[in-house]
Amino acid sequence: MELTQTQQYQPLTDKSTNTKTYFIETYGCQMNVADSELVESLLKKEGYSQATQLDQADAIFVNTCAIREHAEEKVHSQLGRYDLIKKEKPDTIIGVLGCMAQSLKHDLLENKPYVDIILGPDSYRKLPELLNRKTVDTESFVDTTLSRFEVYDDLFPSRNEGINAWISIMRGCDKFCTFCIVPFTRGRERSRSIEGIVLEATKAVEDGFTEITLLGQNVNSYRHEKQEFHHLLASVAQIPGIKRIRYTSPHPQDMTRELLETMLQYETICNSVHLPLQAGSDRILKRMNRTYSKDHFIQLANDIRSILPNVGISTDIIVGFPGETEEEFQETLEVMEIVKFDSAFNFKYSPRRGTKASEYDDQIDEVIKQDRLVRVIELQKKHTLDRNLDLIGTIQTILVEKESKRSSLQWAGRTDSNKWVIFDKGDANIRELVSIKINEARCISLHGHLIKKAEAA
Ligand code: 5AD
Ligand code: SF4
Repeated sequence: MELTQTQQYQPLTDKSTNTKTYFIETYGCQMNVADSELVESLLKKEGYSQATQLDQADAIFVNTCAIREHAEEKVHSQLGRYDLIKKEKPDTIIGVLGCMAQSLKHDLLENKPYVDIILGPDSYRKLPELLNRKTVDTESFVDTTLSRFEVYDDLFPSRNEGINAWISIMRGCDKFCTFCIVPFTRGRERSRSIEGIVLEATKAVEDGFTEITLLGQNVNSYRHEKQEFHHLLASVAQIPGIKRIRYTSPHPQDMTRELLETMLQYETICNSVHLPLQAGSDRILKRMNRTYSKDHFIQLANDIRSILPNVGISTDIIVGFPGETEEEFQETLEVMEIVKFDSAFNFKYSPRRGTKASEYDDQIDEVIKQDRLVRVIELQKKHTLDRNLDLIGTIQTILVEKESKRSSLQWAGRTDSNKWVIFDKGDANIRELVSIKINEARCISLHGHLIKKAEAA
């Protein structure tokens, strides 16, 4: 642990009588949501309970994301709010956790003296020790050391009630795409044991979670003692009572035939694949260090669609990567036309300090990036609608997940191919699998009516 100067401590409280409260705000990907649940579990073991309001908590944590500039800006503005709270209540502990801790520790130490604790993604076990000691001076604690081993295998996350349980199965990334900060903020790849994951998933199912989503920065490069990702998926798929399994985020390079065949074999594994394209031009893909070509990607998408009928394929696309010409951007649109993704997350390239691409001297003008983003979004809207229209008249199995935002008389749930469907509640209940006939397709959702409860059928 880095200590900024020699500190003196006093014991804080006996945990059995601890009445302190915490509040955690989480930014970024699902991995961060899962990490916050780990942190909550550590805090609860120390006797902390969840505060209902930010400004009433004894300890406030923000779990941060560094993937794009916009994500960091949001955290900075939130930290401004914490500063005000601390001015009102100087005893409040302020903690910055996760990906920004690593890249911004110097800025935080120099410019944000109200931050007490800075912990990177592999250092959460330090939290109890830090909370149980009270510093007499105002210096911050910093630990952003990255570990080759830490997977928190023995630590059960503290989940709030819900339908879906996130289970982190591996951490870190060794791919080093040139645009991406993750290998620097989260360190090297390492996987949990299958036993530990199955135990956690079994407990989540017993606790009433209907869907399990296996998470990893590079989920399908999971490997533990010669067991690969498809072995793990098969083990999780056989847990008694499990209804649905999803996973995210895979890399096209690690998409194996065995994985697709395992998905086909088990009905509990959802028929949906996230296949991040990033760009359509071979030159840009090479500069991005994505390790596949445009043709390979198209072939892979075709194989996925032929092995898994009716599969939903989603993607990530970055526009305006350094040096991307108009013609090269057109190739991204071309791949989109060929693959016709069911949905896409589209991003403007955002330079991240420390990554290779941020040093390229042919950065693209913001106006051009924005123009390309609009064009990608427009094309994807058309493809999403086309794919949704194909489902009109079909009967889909939906997991009832929540009330529709538009009407308290309707439910919203997803097909196993990951499309939202809205329908009148009828006698369906939340957490049930139901059969819905699709009547109408819009760009963001499908509409249908209840045929029967699939489970009762
Ligand atoms: N700029 C824009 N998008 C990025 N992503 C990762 N790094 C950057 C960046 N520097 C996107 C990729 C990745 C998704 C999670 O975020 O598309 O797949
Ligand atoms: Fe980032 Fe690439 Fe690793 Fe995904 S595979 S986390 S984009 S470096």
